[in-house]
Amino acid sequence: MSDTFPAGFLWGTATAAYQIEGAPQEDGRTPSIWDTFSHTPGKTEGGATGDIAVDHYHRRAEDVRLMADLGLNAYRFSVSWPRVQPTGRGPAVQRGLDFYRGLVDDLLDHGIEPVLTLYHWDLPQELEAAGGWPERETAYRFAEYARLVGEALGDRVRRWTTLNEPWCSSFLGYGSGVHAPGRTDPLATLRAAHHLNLGHGLAAQALRSVLPAGGQVSVSLNPSCVRARTQSPDDLDARRQIDALANRIFSGPMLNGAYPEDLIADTARLTDWSFVQSGDEALCKQPLDSLGINYYTPAVVSASTDPTAERHDGHGASDHSPWPGVDSVAFHQPPGEVTEMGWSVDPTGMYELLMRYSREAPGVPLQITESGAAYDDKPDADGVVHDPERIRYLHAHLSAVRRAIDDGADVRGYFLWSLMDNFEWAYGYTKRFGVVRVDFETQRRTPKSSAHWYAKLAATGVLPD
Ligand code: NOJ
Repeated sequence: MSDTFPAGFLWGTATAAYQIEGAPQEDGRTPSIWDTFSHTPGKTEGGATGDIAVDHYHRRAEDVRLMADLGLNAYRFSVSWPRVQPTGRGPAVQRGLDFYRGLVDDLLDHGIEPVLTLYHWDLPQELEAAGGWPERETAYRFAEYARLVGEALGDRVRRWTTLNEPWCSSFLGYGSGVHAPGRTDPLATLRAAHHLNLGHGLAAQALRSVLPAGGQVSVSLNPSCVRARTQSPDDLDARRQIDALANRIFSGPMLNGAYPEDLIADTARLTDWSFVQSGDEALCKQPLDSLGINYYTPAVVSASTDPTAERHDGHGASDHSPWPGVDSVAFHQPPGEVTEMGWSVDPTGMYELLMRYSREAPGVPLQITESGAAYDDKPDADGVVHDPERIRYLHAHLSAVRRAIDDGADVRGYFLWSLMDNFEWAYGYTKRFGVVRVDFETQRRTPKSSAHWYAKLAATGVLPD
């Protein structure tokens, strides 16, 4: 296997607006569903909120310098919808847009390619009050917002992503309720998934109509590498069911223009899917210039009729299952090493997903738009953070990417989650994913040894032994 990555490979890190920015009330921003959710007692660990997060709104220049010092050539970030269109409708707020214009200009000045995500989970609260993603109107609102941002920043941003992990927005936001807006309604989950797919299609069209030539449109999914615990027909069927709800519910319409028939049959008790209107599925399938894959850990499932079977699906504790219509599948913790999230370390899952999506999206270049690990790393007496586990994790996953490239996958970039420690949603500030340590009291940033390791890789394009 070659240890060298292709020329032009994008070496980036990734972040998301609500996880890093803070400044929730500045320059006209209004609350998103994550402000409301995190301020609701009991929803996040220790009652943590993104009110300050890592103060990126005020430390933008320093953070771009950090990336530049590390020699990274790309950066994936998201735009906060309520910062640029506070109520989710109407004209854009210039001061909100100015922040992102400034960020992009700083990046470009340092030779860092901006990769902009339009939706990383922070729906304007007013749109949730009007029904949120389970309502069709939200998809149209999203397309309008995409057009506004496209018009404002299309002259300087080439790479656009519509949605980040729509599975989490729908299944965790409206199913298990561990994410904002915290609803627990199986039918709303499926409706939300459809309107996210539709929103993606409409937003992709809106972007194409306003971006200058060369503008690229993508979406970042978090496909699950679902494994059956045994090869028994029942376990294989459990695998099929979860694969439909975790993966094909999005890739079906987005890549093939149709929902899978088995998904419709499996969920027939809940809905006849009449919220999918004629022409919707075709609309969800828009040409993609690349497909983003976020990967952390695989899932192991078996058939189970035991209602008390533990759910080790790694998505946080809830009395409500995120999986609509599924009552006979158990999730199992795979043996072996885990990260601080309790997620098993398994780079073969990444390899398998890259090979799968090479087949399912032929001709569409792939990007790993998130990969990384939380560890409980601590500074030593001199303030230096040694994080050898993270380096091992990254090395193993980048080797898997390299192997997939050898086997024919067209992978064009890797975005490490995350540039810096930040607000890890319901886990608050208890899980550190950064290659740069943030002292949450002082906001001091200190690159960990993994940051230096990654910088060397970005500089040479060669995976060290
Ligand atoms: C996926 C999400 O996109 C990101 O926001 C989150 O922090 C990481 N996974 C780690 O859980």
